[in-house]
Amino acid sequence: MRTIDEQGYHFEEWLTPEQIAKDVQQVANQISADYKDKEPLFVVVLNGAFVFAADLLRALKDVRCEVTFIRVSSYWGLSSTGKLEFIVPLQQVVENRDVIIVEDIVDTGLTIHQLKAHMRAHGATSTRVATMLFKPAKLEYNDAKPEYVGREVSEEFVIGYGLDFDGFQRNLDAIYKVKQ
Ligand code: IMP
Repeated sequence: MRTIDEQGYHFEEWLTPEQIAKDVQQVANQISADYKDKEPLFVVVLNGAFVFAADLLRALKDVRCEVTFIRVSSYWGLSSTGKLEFIVPLQQVVENRDVIIVEDIVDTGLTIHQLKAHMRAHGATSTRVATMLFKPAKLEYNDAKPEYVGREVSEEFVIGYGLDFDGFQRNLDAIYKVKQ
């Protein structure tokens, strides 16, 4: 089994490239069936989702679509509502579009919760979420439950296939889990 050491933590390979490819194809098949007669706009959340998005979009069948990219950072101020900061803002009009947000992982769901509200406020017809990984045990926002999931993961920290540890290891071809 392949392992990676990063900043004092030990990671073991959890999903091989072959397993990932199967999961991605299964998500692509679902989206292809649901969006055959629509022209969705994929909104890819940088930086982490770029690897998953590249594979997912190429695995779609007969879906005429567009793709755009955003980069956000969400933080909590002193008020009780989270604020979404656009580091790379949305450059495409979402009004009257069927939007599919593409994420690497949904954890608490805060990012998706806020992005969905943003899409709604800008007149999107519908907004669904495709994510490579989903940590259901950590979800704090019910409306952030993703419609399309490559694989569910428990609460452990994972890296690779776009997911980073302090900016590093996004380029790993497999997904690795931290070992205590
Ligand atoms: P959320 O807003 O709490 O759902 O957080 C989503 C973001 O947290 C993801 O886009 C990742 O950048 C980051 N994240 C959450 N869990 C992990 C992990 O296990 N490894 C790497 N990044 C993670």
